[in-house]
Order: sequence, then C-alpha cells, then structure tokens
Amino acid sequence: TDTIETALEALQAGEPVLVHDAADREGETDLIYHADAVTPDAVARLRNDAGGLVCVALGHEVAEAFELPFYSEAIDHPATGDHELGYDERSSFSLTVNHRDTYTGITDVDRSTTIQALGKAAAHPSKTVFAEEFRVPGHVHLLKAAPDLLAQREGHTELGVALADAADLSSAVVVCEMLDDETGEALTPADARGYAARHEFPYLEGRDILERLQ
Ligand code: 5RP
Ligand code: ZN
Ligand code: CA
Ligand code: ZN
Repeated sequence: TDTIETALEALQAGEPVLVHDAADREGETDLIYHADAVTPDAVARLRNDAGGLVCVALGHEVAEAFELPFYSEAIDHPATGDHELGYDERSSFSLTVNHRDTYTGITDVDRSTTIQALGKAAAHPSKTVFAEEFRVPGHVHLLKAAPDLLAQREGHTELGVALADAADLSSAVVVCEMLDDETGEALTPADARGYAARHEFPYLEGRDILERLQ
C-alpha cells in the first residue's frame, strides 16, 4: 500500500485516494476526494468508475454546526428503531442535500456545485447559515462522523475525515464505493489496487490509517 504522506499530498492536490476499510468490516474500497476538488469530471468518475452511492462525509463538529442529525435519530419511523447493521453498531447517514443553486441536483454540474459548496462551508462552519445555502432533501447523501472519530468508529466516514484533517483541509470528503461492473459485488481489494495503480492514485488499507492517525 502507499504511504499516508502520499495520500495526503494527493488529497491536497485535488486527486482521489482509495481506501479499503477491512476484510472483517464492509470489505469495500471507497474512492475518496476532498470535497473542494469535486469538479463535474470528478462526479463522472465517481459514478462511472466507483458506481456506489456518492456521499459527503463531514466531521462531527462541522455537522453539529450545520445542525445535521444522524438520520436514524431524526426520523421517527418504526424502521429506524433497530438498525441491525452486520458490520457496525450504527450507520453514519445524516440527511440528503442539494445546493440552492442547483436545478434537479443530480447532474454532474449540480452535484459538483453541492459538494464543492459543502467543502467551502466546512472550512468556516460557524459563519455558514446552512439552510440559506442548501435545501433538504437533495441528491447528495451526507454522512456524519462519530464524535471521537477513529477512536469510536472505523468506517470510511471516519477514515476519510481523518485524512482530510491530517491534510489540513476542511472536514469534508466525498466517498463512493468501488463496485465491480461484471459481478455487481464490491470490487475486490486486488482489483481496487489495480485500478489505483493504473491511474496512479494512492491506495491505503484502513489499518494503515488507524496505525498513524488513531
Ligand atoms: C454509504 C456507505 C459507505 O460504506 C460509506 O463508505 C460510508 O459508510 P461507512 O462509514 O460505514 O464505511 O455505506 O454509501
Ligand atoms: Zn456502506
Ligand atoms: Ca462502472
Ligand atoms: Zn464504507
């Protein structure tokens, strides 16, 4: 795997990194960019090359400043009562959003607008009036990191936010699962490494990040 430094430099340069969480967790590799770097072309790469759900993970304090709850706590519906995830104690899902300058919210340009605005807002959370800039629901899924980040949860949400923090970037990253177009399953770590090598994107294992940043 590549070094943390290589990954931090890539994120600072607006390049994506790949992070496999752990074989005994989801066993998935997410393609991750800092939110500021998500151009329309980057959205196209996320949906074409990754293919999973395009989400923006926010640091816990940023999400709190934006008054963003965990979805399961905010929605009073019987199905949110017992979450029963096979791989973690709880989901990091928060609300879904569109920037107010978007039309439908789903096009590459619209999602890029929403995601870049989230990156900028995360740089000065207390100066942001979230509801003036964004509407809920929308087409970008927000994820909210655990309060104690990697000490509490080892998901892509926390792994991605920890990388952004270590890179001195705002606490907002896009994460999207790499899926295999042939099988429909998660891309295997070997294939994810191959994709990373072909594109010269850094590839990290979750444990590399935990060893250095936890
Ligand atoms: C949203 C997800 C992804 O797995 C994403 O990586 C965030 O979740 P987690 O923090 O649990 O890994 O489920 O598409
Ligand atoms: Zn997941
Ligand atoms: Ca594809
Ligand atoms: Zn994940």
